[in-house]
Amino acid sequence: MNADYIKWRDNMSFKNKVVYQIYPMSFMDSNNDGMGDIRGIIGKLDYLENLGVDMLWITPVYSSPKFDNGYDIADYYNIDPQFGTMEDFDELIEKAKEKNIGIIMDIVANHTSTHHDWFKKALLGDKKYQDFYVFRDKAFVEKHPINSIFGGDAWEYVEELNLYYLHNFDKTQADLDWDNEEVREEVYKMLNFWLNKGVKGFRFDVIDMISKEFDKLSMSNGPKLHEYIKEMNKKSFGNFETLTVGETWSADTEHAKLYSNPDGSEFSMVFTFEHIMYTMNKWETTIDKQKLKGIFEKYQKELFGKGWNSLFFNNHDLPRLISRYGEEEYREITGKQWAMILHSMAGTPFIYQGEEIGMTNRAWTREEMRDVEAINYYNEAIKTHEESYVMDKVRKISRDNARTPMQWDDSDYGGFSKENPWIIVNENYKDINVKKALEDKDSLFYTYKKLIKLRKEEEILVEGDFNLIDLGEDFFAYKRTYKGQELILVSNLTKEEKTLDFVAKGELFMSNYEKEEKNYRSYETRIYLSK
Ligand code: NOJ
Repeated sequence: MNADYIKWRDNMSFKNKVVYQIYPMSFMDSNNDGMGDIRGIIGKLDYLENLGVDMLWITPVYSSPKFDNGYDIADYYNIDPQFGTMEDFDELIEKAKEKNIGIIMDIVANHTSTHHDWFKKALLGDKKYQDFYVFRDKAFVEKHPINSIFGGDAWEYVEELNLYYLHNFDKTQADLDWDNEEVREEVYKMLNFWLNKGVKGFRFDVIDMISKEFDKLSMSNGPKLHEYIKEMNKKSFGNFETLTVGETWSADTEHAKLYSNPDGSEFSMVFTFEHIMYTMNKWETTIDKQKLKGIFEKYQKELFGKGWNSLFFNNHDLPRLISRYGEEEYREITGKQWAMILHSMAGTPFIYQGEEIGMTNRAWTREEMRDVEAINYYNEAIKTHEESYVMDKVRKISRDNARTPMQWDDSDYGGFSKENPWIIVNENYKDINVKKALEDKDSLFYTYKKLIKLRKEEEILVEGDFNLIDLGEDFFAYKRTYKGQELILVSNLTKEEKTLDFVAKGELFMSNYEKEEKNYRSYETRIYLSK
């Protein structure tokens, strides 16, 4: 590892950064073809600078047939023409840099598209490239039944070869074999290509799946997982100043500590999912705020000084925060509530496009659905359930909820495009949009802006330890302490007005209500600070 990297890593300078996630297909369409693009992002850099974020995580923009919206990469070295050109991308890096904003690329290397040259060569019988993937014969497949995460069998038969290949996601997403050293070297070469272009970080797609244990039918957390990540670090991003984050649905606190080991040997931080999927069922719609408190407490305490977590409720795979944990009737209040709860903890906050203006889920019909995962789910579930049951799940959980176009203003298609977008715009764009949010100084946007700024000004937000305060089921409360300072957050989790005996030390520092009153109103959330 080079000296600069070590110095930077020792200071862990990413600790006060805030990342904004962009889903380019749905962010801004500059050429009015109904699909967002890189020039669209460039055009909105002023907006992102105003919000104050440090880095942009851009979900995949590489050449792709887009069966899974770009998470099926056909060429790691090219930009998909629908998103623009490599010149556009270089310009994005440059223009963002002028604003002190770094670009984080999304690396999808557990699998490639079946349109990738490697896979095409494998299909033509090239042994070298067959070994890039997981091709197995019938006997092996029968002994190792594996289900795809997107539903159905994870093994796909190829008649010409009389073999099956593994796809943990869609059948157009073939798993790479990381136990093949040549595959790993190809990945490191590709990472260095992007690093040399000036990208400042990577988000690693389903990285917990790169080491598999077929005997145990286990597709994640295999025995070589951390060894491969360490090797990747040494041979690529560990030699640059970067912010790296691994997407790890199966991580517990022990794995999380390894992934984000402060010795800098793996990633800067990790996305853990226990607070998202505490039921382990993707389509479970109920939520449990008591469990949620316990999960946050566990990760906050166990990683303190031993690792570094990310803080997020939303991304392109998850329903909108306000629709899931808040209440649409109290959109601004609950939006502020959950933003304050999340951003006042230790870790690096990630904001997903539209979260900062309080975008919500929408009521999908079958025809309007676009997401391969939801469509597969629908096709399976409808065999045994009523239409209304299945559509209720889709409306509450489907990834399409996160993927509706960004709502910029109240003009047609929410100002995202002048043409009919690839996915329907949420009808509430006339009410919920950036233009309106910017005009109202009390809007949710300014709460996010303030929270981002505070992370840079108040060390306690970054460095403070964490203890839950037990104020009963109706409240979420915690205390952080640092060098004699104390930050206390108290949040009423209910719609009812509540009286509270507890008196927090310090000044009222921030609230999601304008005027202070004694009782806690619906979802009222306060932050107290004593210095
Ligand atoms: C996780 C990504 O976030 C998701 O969008 C994608 O479908 C899968 N990985 C497969 O790449």
